[in-house]
Amino acid sequence: MSEPVVLGIESTCDETAAAVVRGASLVSNVVASSMEEHARYGGVIPEIASRAHAESFVPVVSRALADADLDLDQVDAIAVSAGPGLAGCLAVGVSGAKALAWAAGKPLYGINHVIGHIAVTQLQFGPFPDETLALIVSGGHTSLLHVKDVARHVDVVGTTLDDAAGECFDKIARLLGFPYPGGPHIDRHARQGDPHAIRVPQGLTQGRAGLEHPYDFSFSGVKTAVARWIEEQEAAGRPVPVDDVCASLAESVATVLSRKAIAACERFGSDTLIVGGGFSANSQLRAKLAQVGGQKGVRVRIPELKLCTDNGAMVAMLGSNLVQAGVRPSQPDFAIDSAMP
Ligand code: KG4
Ligand code: ZN
Repeated sequence: MSEPVVLGIESTCDETAAAVVRGASLVSNVVASSMEEHARYGGVIPEIASRAHAESFVPVVSRALADADLDLDQVDAIAVSAGPGLAGCLAVGVSGAKALAWAAGKPLYGINHVIGHIAVTQLQFGPFPDETLALIVSGGHTSLLHVKDVARHVDVVGTTLDDAAGECFDKIARLLGFPYPGGPHIDRHARQGDPHAIRVPQGLTQGRAGLEHPYDFSFSGVKTAVARWIEEQEAAGRPVPVDDVCASLAESVATVLSRKAIAACERFGSDTLIVGGGFSANSQLRAKLAQVGGQKGVRVRIPELKLCTDNGAMVAMLGSNLVQAGVRPSQPDFAIDSAMP
């Protein structure tokens, strides 16, 4: 099938999303978020998110099909995120997608959400180079991946051993009194601060002691160091210089992410780096990647924001890749996998 029409459904966390892709062109893209309902709790509450998915599923999928001017029987395949993510949230999306596929007699693909973040970049930048590296950073994941064939062969080159970068930002933001998600607030304040005002360790600069893992990350120590520094200031009755704290945190995290990502590109002989996930909206990371990538001759592909955050287009695009590669659909009884590697 040269240009399959694929409906993609996403429900791993707090976004219920659906989109239609034809080949590698985006036809429609609808996102409903329950983020505001979680804000007052300081993080995503799985129960609330699952209920919101159950309420939004039918309206969001209907809108995505209507915006594409299609009926369900006109799509060639359905794809849905099967993991990683919150189990209750995945269950709603996958059950809904199974029901649609069964009723309409369509092939169904349960896809890996993180690979979807890579696949979606094709909608903006076109096909991948033969081999490429991808840096996926969000509130839930921080991974460096070697992409040989997005439909069949993606290897993990590095990952965070503890917190994701977005999670680290969100936790410090909470200490500073910003609402959830705090990442964008840190970004905004960091632009006015001194990035060298406070000494923030750079997680795992050398790789795990004694082991050859130079591309793994660790942000838990970074978070603890900044949190302790803030607590010390408060205990001593000194004002906390919010802009400087944000700038120093952002400098540390953006530096280690970009250094390791570009070093991995050199190691694997890739002249391109794909970037995705909600944290790729971060201005300090974007600036650092452009700088380090420019020095080393690596082209950095960061898609526009609506394709970086969780959406249905990433799922539909990977589904389209799978159909075009002739990969067999998932079995009707496939399981969700909240810890999918
Ligand atoms: O991919 P995403 O929408 O959801 C998942 O976590 O899967 O990413 C959301 C994460 C949150 O941690 C949020 O604080 C962070 O991305 N984020 C940012 C920025 N925009 C979103 N972090 C730093 N700077 C930003 N501009
Ligand atoms: Zn995501």
